[in-house]
Amino acid sequence: MGEAKNITAGYDFGDGVPIKVRYIFRGTPYGKEELAAVKEAFKGGTLTMGPQVEAFEKEFAKYVGCKHAFAVSNCTSAMHVVTQMLDLGPGDEVITTPNTFIATSLVIVKEGVRPVFADIDPRTHNIDPAAIEKKITRRTKAIYVVHYGGQCCDMDAIMRISRKYKLPVMEDCAHALGTRFQGRHAGTFGMAGCFSFHSLKNITTCGEGGMITINDDRWVAPIKMLRCMNIHPWREKDAARVMKEYGACKKDREYWLPSHFDIEDVNGHWGMNYRMNEVSAAVGRVQLRKADKFVARRRECGHYLNKHLQGIPGITPVYDDPRGFNSYHLYTLCVEEGALGSSRDAFMRALYYKEGIQGIQHYQPTYDFTGFRKLGHKGHQCPEAERFFYHRETNLPMHPMLTNRELEDMVRGIRRAAEKVRGKGLR
Ligand SMILES: Cc1ncc(COP(=O)(O)O)c(C=O)c1O
Repeated sequence: MGEAKNITAGYDFGDGVPIKVRYIFRGTPYGKEELAAVKEAFKGGTLTMGPQVEAFEKEFAKYVGCKHAFAVSNCTSAMHVVTQMLDLGPGDEVITTPNTFIATSLVIVKEGVRPVFADIDPRTHNIDPAAIEKKITRRTKAIYVVHYGGQCCDMDAIMRISRKYKLPVMEDCAHALGTRFQGRHAGTFGMAGCFSFHSLKNITTCGEGGMITINDDRWVAPIKMLRCMNIHPWREKDAARVMKEYGACKKDREYWLPSHFDIEDVNGHWGMNYRMNEVSAAVGRVQLRKADKFVARRRECGHYLNKHLQGIPGITPVYDDPRGFNSYHLYTLCVEEGALGSSRDAFMRALYYKEGIQGIQHYQPTYDFTGFRKLGHKGHQCPEAERFFYHRETNLPMHPMLTNRELEDMVRGIRRAAEKVRGKGLR
């Protein structure tokens, strides 16, 4: 893949810091193929849930290797549909990771369900299967895992727990398009996978979008209803009942179009409008064809950083699980404060203010948010997740538009920042 121009390199963002590598690429990941697809979609007979969406779903299912895929408005709505489909409600618990974007727990609390947080593996930052098993109670109804940063969770161990306790697994694949484990794509292990096509994800559909992947035919009808306002075609017996009630003639029914549909709850659950439009789907189809190229460049950048960041005392590059295929959605560097003799925050400050490399943290443990404390969640539940966010991690810029020059600047900056703060004490 050729070098791209970073339009923010050398730009001063008003804090006097000449940035060499900004965390987020502020360009557009689109080329002329996506623009042509947009034009084509506008020529179609409908602008939502038409042939582009149908084709995108089929192509996506083929790409990840699952039976069915359903396009939705974003990954949060995808996970909401799955949570409703699992018929979860008050009194139920879902075990999940605290190291995730709020969306993963939001869909749980939205349905009045209690998230129960299991600690993470300090090497992969993914949910630790042993910690999941310790949190299972008779109220546990599901396990929601997140493939953090594009590295697949230990799906062997997690699916063993799923089978042993008969608990469905939902995979939050927001970071994991192109991610594999033992050769199989993320999003095909559990009962459902939920993908994000947000602007910064591995592929994007005009900034927002999502997909649900499943293998079980029984979920097809409920997913279709829950993503689109509980609409489904009339069943003969229900139509006949209403006809009889109003004395309507059977043959009149064909004149009822386009309101010729029935509405029904799904186990008492009511869906929303979570549809994807045709323009987004058309762009998604093009982006999907480029997905392997994008992931290959992410991996190339990740492997370069891994190689050149070896041997710096107190700095831990990404650990690549040999069973997996990391799509490097994020590049998460860890600072080991004891070995560095300085705090992670001092390192990040030096990296930003002295070297112009911007790093950020994902994610604050979910239970530390004010809203979750109001729900009764206490602090200090998951020591590894807390150490990770408050003392270890810094996410470096990572996207397929990174240039070789930026990668070199990052390596040089990290080495120099580590030396500047080494032995300066923890505060
Ligand atoms: C781990 C994780 N889950 C879910 C989401 C939500 O995705 P979306 O913005 O498509 O709703 C995100 C988005 O950043 C995420 O990072």
